Amino acid sequence: MDLWLDTDPGFDDWMAWLLMESVPGWRLHGVSVVAGNAPLETTLGNALRIKSLHGLATPVYAGCDRPLAQPQVTAQDVLGIDGMASTGRRLDVPPAAVSAGHGVTALIDAVRANPGRITLLAVGPLTNVATAFLLAPDLPGLLKSLVIMGGSTVGGNATAAAEFNIHADPEAAAQVFGSGTTVRMFGLNICKQLRVGDAHVQRLRAAGSDEAGVMGDYLDGYVDIGRRQGRTAQSLYDPTPVIYLAHPGRFELRMGRVDIELSGRHTRGMTVCDLRGPALARANAMVAMEATRGPELVDWAMERLAARLAR
Ligand code: RIB
Ligand code: CA
Repeated sequence: MDLWLDTDPGFDDWMAWLLMESVPGWRLHGVSVVAGNAPLETTLGNALRIKSLHGLATPVYAGCDRPLAQPQVTAQDVLGIDGMASTGRRLDVPPAAVSAGHGVTALIDAVRANPGRITLLAVGPLTNVATAFLLAPDLPGLLKSLVIMGGSTVGGNATAAAEFNIHADPEAAAQVFGSGTTVRMFGLNICKQLRVGDAHVQRLRAAGSDEAGVMGDYLDGYVDIGRRQGRTAQSLYDPTPVIYLAHPGRFELRMGRVDIELSGRHTRGMTVCDLRGPALARANAMVAMEATRGPELVDWAMERLAARLAR
């Protein structure tokens, strides 16, 4: 499987990325970084340190540093200044070199060089993807598929109505869902069915390497987001669509119409998901609704990461 990742690291982004690098037969052509969890300078720095920590060969490009049409918002109030929920731990490795060229241009070039073959996974605000579609109107038709972590059928996390990745750039999301390509949408509703907790932190640390220790500490910080809200486990956001790509038969996706609310005073950034029959005529998305035995899928992901990180 040929892939491209667009991301705003973000610890769950980190898990998703390393998982993509750890599935036999998968080829990650590039990583484009976008502003989101934190400003681009920070998300890019996180990505280049992740690349360095794991010795990854995949090129990392700097993408868009601001939303299309609104002031920038971040998740630093929840995730901390580094956007990584790191409870003070620093990713103390020198950053790898960023690859030359803009992330949007690199994405366009990679898809055009591999027509019909690349699955684009976007797990941050959709600014880079929307900009690529605006610059290259042929791009949506050249993708094998477009899969996102974003949106929700059950209310938001950034606001009562909006999930963060959509909330951070609603105009970009509207561009992408209006592009004519089918969006495979993994929203908060499906991510709530795959959760990580203390046992997964211990599993990762038990892999034994320094890398595993660092990642285990960050996973503990990520799980702490849930603990601080009275939960013993935290939704596994960005890795969920990666798990789907490895186990498509374990997920039920429903065809429907997804529109992005842009003008609602209380609902801006909401993914309005119409899954009723008549919507099929205007369908632009496959919305992930159910995972079969979600905990087993989380265990699969943790085992793959632990094997990658083993001493
Ligand atoms: O709402 C969850 C999403 O927002 C995830 O992609 C997380 O990394 C943040 O970007
Ligand atoms: Ca993300």
